[in-house]
Amino acid sequence: MQNNSLEYLKRTALWFYLLLKSLLAYWIGHPQNTVSIFRFLIKKLIYIPKFTKRNVMTESQKYNYEENLETTKNIYNKYAPKVNFKNRSSYKLLKKILKDKEQILYFLVRKYKPTVVLETGVAAGVSSGFILQALNDNKKGSLYSIDLPFQWYTYGNNELHLDSLPPGQNSGYLVPNKLRNRWRLTLGDTYQELPKLVKKLRKINIFFHDSEHTFKTMTFEYNQTWSHLPKKGLLLSDDVNFTTAFNKFVRGKKVKYFVFKKIGIAIK
Ligand SMILES: C[S@@+](CC[C@H](N)C(=O)[O-])C[C@H]1O[C@@H](n2cnc3c(N)ncnc32)[C@H](O)[C@@H]1O
Repeated sequence: MQNNSLEYLKRTALWFYLLLKSLLAYWIGHPQNTVSIFRFLIKKLIYIPKFTKRNVMTESQKYNYEENLETTKNIYNKYAPKVNFKNRSSYKLLKKILKDKEQILYFLVRKYKPTVVLETGVAAGVSSGFILQALNDNKKGSLYSIDLPFQWYTYGNNELHLDSLPPGQNSGYLVPNKLRNRWRLTLGDTYQELPKLVKKLRKINIFFHDSEHTFKTMTFEYNQTWSHLPKKGLLLSDDVNFTTAFNKFVRGKKVKYFVFKKIGIAIK
C-alpha cells in the first residue's frame, strides 16, 4: 500500500515536471501569449488535483473504449454490405449510423482495407486503437502514428490548448497489447517527423490528422501527405471546424469531400 502511494507520488511529480517544463518552453518561444498562459493556469490549475487521482480517468476511458468497440463492430457488420463509396447516398447513410470519430475510423478502415494508414496525434490512443482493431479484423495493413505529448498551442481567440496524459501514462496507453504488432509509433514533433515518415513510406492509403488543430499545422500535414495518397486514397481530418484549413485545402484540390461530426473526409 505504502509502495503504491510512493509510486503514485513519483508518477505525479514526473507528470508535473513534464507539464511545467513544456509550458515553460512554450512560454519562452511565445512570449506574446503570456496573457493566454496565465488565463489557462488560473482556469485549469484548480482541476489538476482531481485529474491526477489514481487511474480514475484511465478506468473510465477503458470502459468506454471497450463498450464502443463492441457497438462499432455491430454497426459495421449490419451496414457494411449496404455501403458503396461510389454512391453519394452511402455517405448520407454513414452520417446517420456513425456516432463518433472512433466509429467512423473503424468503418472506413474496414471498408477500404488499406495497406498503410498514417495518423498524427495519439494522446491516450483511442483513435489508434480503433484503427488497429479494424486492421486486425481485415487481417491486413499497418498503422504509423506520430505523437508529441505535452504540446501547447493557441487557437481561436488566442485560447491556450493542451492534450495531456494522466500521470505515469504514455502516448497510446489505451492500445491493447494484442494489437501493437501492426503499429509503429514515433514520438516527436510532426514538423520534424512527418516529412521523414512520408518519404520512407512513399504510399499512404489513408491519412488521419489529429495533432495540432491550427491552420498552419493542418495545412502543413495535408500538404505533406496529399501527394503520397493514391487515386481514391483518403485524407481524414478531425476538428475541421477549428480553422478553415480543411475547406480551403480540399476546395483547392477540387476533390469530393464530406464532413461528418467535425471529421473531414476527402477522396483523392
Ligand atoms: C486530440 S489529441 C489526439 C487524440 C487521438 N487521435 C484520439 O482520437 O484518441 C492530439 C495529440 O496530438 C499531440 N500533438 C500536438 N501537437 C503536436 C505536434 N506538433 N506534433 C506531434 N503531436 C502533436 C498532442 O500532444 C496530443 O497527444
